Amino acid sequence: MTVNDPFVAIGSADKLRQKSARHHITLRNRTNTNRYHSLLLFSFPKVQKEAQSGVDLGINASQFYCMEAVCPHLGAPLENASIYDVEGEEEEDIEDAVIVCPWHEYDFSLSTGESSTGLKACVFAVEVRSDGQVWVQQPSNEGGWDVIEVRPVSEAQTQGREVHAKELHTAMQNVSLDHSADAPDAPLPDPEPLPKTLVEWAVLVLNTPEPREKVHYTRLAARAFRSGQCRIIGGGRRDSSENSTRWLRKESETPPAVPPRLSDAKVVRPGQEGRRGKGGSERSRIAMLHSLANIEQWAIDLAWDIIARAPELYAKAKEGNSPLPVQFFSDFVKVAEDEAKHFSLLQNRLHQMGARFGDLPVHHGLWDSATETMHSLDARLSIIHLVHEARGLDANPLTIKKFDNAGDKDSVEVLTIIHLDEVTHVSAGHRWLTYLCDETEQSPIEVFRKNVGRHFAGKLKGPFNANDRSKAGLTREWYEDLVGEKAGGPIGVARSEIPGG
Ligand code: FES
Repeated sequence: MTVNDPFVAIGSADKLRQKSARHHITLRNRTNTNRYHSLLLFSFPKVQKEAQSGVDLGINASQFYCMEAVCPHLGAPLENASIYDVEGEEEEDIEDAVIVCPWHEYDFSLSTGESSTGLKACVFAVEVRSDGQVWVQQPSNEGGWDVIEVRPVSEAQTQGREVHAKELHTAMQNVSLDHSADAPDAPLPDPEPLPKTLVEWAVLVLNTPEPREKVHYTRLAARAFRSGQCRIIGGGRRDSSENSTRWLRKESETPPAVPPRLSDAKVVRPGQEGRRGKGGSERSRIAMLHSLANIEQWAIDLAWDIIARAPELYAKAKEGNSPLPVQFFSDFVKVAEDEAKHFSLLQNRLHQMGARFGDLPVHHGLWDSATETMHSLDARLSIIHLVHEARGLDANPLTIKKFDNAGDKDSVEVLTIIHLDEVTHVSAGHRWLTYLCDETEQSPIEVFRKNVGRHFAGKLKGPFNANDRSKAGLTREWYEDLVGEKAGGPIGVARSEIPGG
């Protein structure tokens, strides 16, 4: 790569092709770190022929296409859109394909971005270079773009839809982590009636105390949102009567102050759960995994709570009528889905070790920070996503090391998956805090530091995982020498304070 290369390397063509037919890619600008771009990379099997004889050599190469990840019409996520081959089903090589947005069914050519509706989606050139790497054209020439995340799109989401046969062929070769996380219990029914807006889904999940049901509803909500079954965000509106500052919302879109928990849960104050040890014994590791499962359960609620409150909080911060981009909601639906996956992975691991979530006492400390920040979107993003989740990035490698030292490879695998996802969650917090600050012409670092000062108690303690924090957009000037001045003791309990001590 040269310094001025207008392309950015995404990864090995072979690995990308094996993992999934679609990848969601997040890029961040190196010069202006407030700028993000979300792209979709599609790969189709390509039959290679021997040059001279024209004999088929089989499906051993891929045709790649890259397109903006959101629909140019109203911003719907395109990652689970249907794809059709414009050349007809008999074609062996796909020369072009059309993606159909799940929300209002506008069609876009994957090679040109053109649509029969007259709109045009941004598409980006893709090269497979001699080193076997896939390179994608950068969104603009001003400075370089860094790859923040390359995420396979779950093939489970596209099943049952009209996808091209060749894409299904690739899909069948893939392994979905979501399936490995499923608990071996009986299937759960769908909610009755089905929520009509994304915020109604959020409130349903928040009001569901049973963890397995919470996970199930989270997955249903994500599917409904991405498939276009649920394409209204909801969340209420300003009262239009003169001089009114009221926000009007239906009861079905009103989030609870504190999400309920099962009545038989053994709840204690933070720090009173009993000794967990340092992970040397199985009993100690069960206690640590149990604590993490509790945090993940709250994290599902935190993701849905920001979705439920964001329409009102953004309208108040912006004092205008333009709503938040749909991409904000897509990002936090993805966070909620990840947290549900994490909870299931931990619950399954506990089962394998002969334990169950609910066997041990838990605390509700993380929700203290949600209560503290429920009136401000920038405060919520700062404290939950850029303090607590970022502190998780500091602690996770140490926790993983303890399990590794104990030879517990299965738990190491689960904790590693969780850690990699958490980097992208902090990145989502950074992306939307910087977006909000751009809109209100404020410095995101100053806003973050002010929020920590006001809503957090005590010093932000290191050692910091500067590498992963930086991947997520948090350079040192964000968090070094930062002291929260909130009175009344520590607010909330970070992931870093859970396992092992
Ligand atoms: S067609 Fe995609 S958002 Fe309307």
